[in-house]
Amino acid sequence: MSTTEPVIEVGAFKRALGRYATGVVVVSARAGVHDHAMTANSFTAVSLDPPLVLFCVERDARFHDAVTEAGVFGVSVLAVGQRPAATWLATPGRPLIGQLDMVPHERGPNGCALVTGALSQLEAQVEDVHRAGDHSIVVGRVLHLAAPDDPPPPLLYYRSRYAGGPAAY
Ligand SMILES: Cc1cc2nc3c(=O)[nH]c(=O)nc-3n(C[C@H](O)[C@H](O)[C@H](O)COP(=O)(O)O)c2cc1C
Repeated sequence: MSTTEPVIEVGAFKRALGRYATGVVVVSARAGVHDHAMTANSFTAVSLDPPLVLFCVERDARFHDAVTEAGVFGVSVLAVGQRPAATWLATPGRPLIGQLDMVPHERGPNGCALVTGALSQLEAQVEDVHRAGDHSIVVGRVLHLAAPDDPPPPLLYYRSRYAGGPAAY
């Protein structure tokens, strides 16, 4: 019996999936002596016991090899005022060295760069990397958490645009 693969056009896929509003995070990893960082919205919680999170990373992104080499990654959940950092860390081909120089950040107890003033900050140990099409799903076990009281509003992403800030539209 033969099955016919449905043809899902990329634009239609993005349009439909873009209707799912998300927050925005910066994922970071220290590979060798350099901090790598990348804007991502594929971040989610996976499991409470043990505490697992995941994000997806394009296999061609420089961050892909950085996080698998580092074995530990940081996650900073961005506030609405941190949109410039999100835009910068999503810019393809930005210089690797010094890419966090203009982004206020601090070092977590496990060595990851964490964006200062983020709504929450996590560090996680890479538990699994699953190949999934042109991306990998990186699953991490949470090692460290910080979620200060009275957070500012979140940076949101919806229909392929940032939302929730005065400059979004
Ligand atoms: C809001 C937003 C969310 C993104 N989410 C992801 C993501 O979850 N995974 C991913 O691989 N790329 C994501 N990207 C794209 C990467 O940020 C971008 O491809 C990456 O920074 C390129 O870096 P490189 O040149 O070092 O490979 C996102 C971009 C934006 C603007």
